[in-house]
Amino acid sequence: MKQVISISLGSSNNDYEFQTTFLGQKFKIKRIGTNGDYDKAVDLLVQLDAETDAFGLGSVKLPSPNKNNRLINIASSILDYVRDDSVKIAKLRSRLQTPVTTGDHLINVAYEWAIRSLQFEHTGYFNNARVLFLSGMTHYRMAGVMAEYTENLTFADPVIENGISKFIHSFKDLELYAKGAHDILKWVPSKRLTSSAIPLKKWNTHILRKAMQKAQIIVVPYHNFYDYVGDCTPEELGGKTIITTTAYDDRIEFLKNQGVDVIIDTTPKLLKRVVGVNVQEALVIAALGKNQHQITDEEMLELMSSTQTGLRPRLVYPSGEPKQITRFAFVIHPLSQEQFKLEKTVKPFINIPGAVDAVEKVVAYAPPWVYSKVTGIKSPAGVETEGWLITVGGTPKQMMSHSPEFTYKRLLMAARMAKRLGAQIMGLGAFTKVVGDAGVTVAKKAAIPITTGNSYSASGALWAAADAVRRMGLIEIDDGKKIKGKTMVFGATGAIGSVCCRLLAMAFDEVYLCGRNIVKLMALKESILKETPKVKLHTIVNPDKYLEDMDVIVTATSGMGKKILDITKVKPGCVITDVARPLDLSPQEVAKRPDVLVIESGEILLPGDPKMKDIGLPPKVVYACLAETIVLALDRRFEVFTIGRDIEWEKVKSIYKMGLKHGMKLAAISGVNGVFTDEDIEKVRDLAIEAREKNKTAKKK
Ligand SMILES: NC(=O)c1ccc[n+]([C@@H]2O[C@H](COP(=O)([O-])OP(=O)(O)OC[C@H]3O[C@@H](n4cnc5c(N)ncnc54)[C@H](OP(=O)(O)O)[C@@H]3O)[C@@H](O)[C@H]2O)c1
Repeated sequence: MKQVISISLGSSNNDYEFQTTFLGQKFKIKRIGTNGDYDKAVDLLVQLDAETDAFGLGSVKLPSPNKNNRLINIASSILDYVRDDSVKIAKLRSRLQTPVTTGDHLINVAYEWAIRSLQFEHTGYFNNARVLFLSGMTHYRMAGVMAEYTENLTFADPVIENGISKFIHSFKDLELYAKGAHDILKWVPSKRLTSSAIPLKKWNTHILRKAMQKAQIIVVPYHNFYDYVGDCTPEELGGKTIITTTAYDDRIEFLKNQGVDVIIDTTPKLLKRVVGVNVQEALVIAALGKNQHQITDEEMLELMSSTQTGLRPRLVYPSGEPKQITRFAFVIHPLSQEQFKLEKTVKPFINIPGAVDAVEKVVAYAPPWVYSKVTGIKSPAGVETEGWLITVGGTPKQMMSHSPEFTYKRLLMAARMAKRLGAQIMGLGAFTKVVGDAGVTVAKKAAIPITTGNSYSASGALWAAADAVRRMGLIEIDDGKKIKGKTMVFGATGAIGSVCCRLLAMAFDEVYLCGRNIVKLMALKESILKETPKVKLHTIVNPDKYLEDMDVIVTATSGMGKKILDITKVKPGCVITDVARPLDLSPQEVAKRPDVLVIESGEILLPGDPKMKDIGLPPKVVYACLAETIVLALDRRFEVFTIGRDIEWEKVKSIYKMGLKHGMKLAAISGVNGVFTDEDIEKVRDLAIEAREKNKTAKKK
């Protein structure tokens, strides 16, 4: 039977001795605490040398995890106490035959494994996350792995170790710092903390607190854990993910009280019984019968994964409920000059001729800024997401008066900002995806996945139309059969319009494809007939004479508020879904026909308790394109989803299903005057029936 002995500088109260089997070999494992007595620890090493296969050293502070510098060759740190007595050290080293380890190799392999396995298991877990390492040197290897997934790294080493009021912001700079070659050290002539003057200390504490507040993930060393975070409050730690090793119960309790969301404990667990990492690594060394220098990372990993318990990082949710938070960004823009007129700073000037025009032009050149943080979205599947609404300054008019590159440039700036904030996907709102090639260039150049949201906009528009038609009750709908009705789509050849045509072709008997270019319309007709051969399709450029027959109209043009359809000619009781932004039908136009139901496409009611600044919709309700970005974030689909003008039918279906899975609901349908109640709809219906009767009588005469 092999013997592994752990000599710990910790308390002897926790000593144990047991037998176990590991890799088919029998082991006796023993822990001896020396209550901080170094001499005793050294004596024990010497005494037990002959009868031990591997020593573990417990409660010893690990030095830098730099490979060359790894504490290994004999317990150099435990022997620090005889640092000056080189003869004594040399003698002792030469006397010890048995390998000695503090477990740092295993810990480092476990750090890497924890990060990689989480990233693999929960797609994109660390993508663009803002990670603060309180000690980059202690977590050097983990930092290297993390740098593969996010550029948002901050290392507090200069602040905490050297009292220098500067952070390191990249892994490359951490490498230079580790070699003592970083500029940061030139900042302080002595290359060490020069002053413990109170103002400097206070300032450092302040900037450290700020850095913690900004971070989404904080990596806390397990040695001196409380020295690093003991003074922190929920302001610094609330809602954070903490990565650490050996998260003992008291530490979990402490982090729980500070409102931490998730604790990732990377401690490896090779045995069922909880033992220190030094014991586990000593066990591996003894089992393999090798010196620790000869054991490769691959061997270590293979061993870990072949054990019964495997090596999964432990995820602790202090609140008792699993928590997974993803992050998104979404670009919005002012829809018209009217929005500027509401701004406090602009209000006093609105009567000065040309003033608002000037503001509109100037703001179009402004760099993007964060309009609102979005929080509280929680899917019934248990996932949460949070995000940022980033605004670019151009109104549709301004975007159209510049080249597409003007808007692309600002969208790419927004994408960089989104990435810095930690977003894992970014959506393009309203007109930003109408410009140029509808997101293709931006998606190619941005360092974050992009979606236009058009798949969900199309599905949302028809979801809303179907709901409105059902509530109006004027068309016969037989389950599973085509609706006996006629429908027309304005902007039929556009990105959203064409998908609406495809969907309506599946549901209705007849669809009128209305556009400005007959060749494009013919091509669209041909491709729809391939999918839905039995539908009756008409291609038209002059819609007026057909309007009186339409039961449902969808208008999805980028006509920017120009008059697109003559509402006075529409059939009473028609349901019009206005998807365009700005709307194709103004409130004045809508007011002309109280017997027609005009709805503003399909807005989506978000799950959970979402909070964000006003976006001109009722609370918790968002545009379908924003909802698409949110659904993708909730589903961890950090990928370019919808871009370009050809929306894929498969994606429309899949985002609809994904939306249902994550608790998205069609919001109450609304029109230019707000939400339609059942009474409102009944009123429109009554007026429509009355008008139809009148028309019939008039025709008879
Ligand atoms: N509600 C939402 O959640 C939501 C989401 C996304 C987009 N939108 C809005 O939906 C609209 C369509 O977006 P999209 O991405 O599908 O745009 P798109 O691909 O550019 O398509 C626009 C369509 O409008 C037509 N059009 C442009 N100006 C016109 C005019 N003066 N008269 C008649 N037709 C005109 C175009 O026809 P031609 O081919 O002849 O040029 C084209 O077919 C936009 O207003 C956009 O802001 C709303």
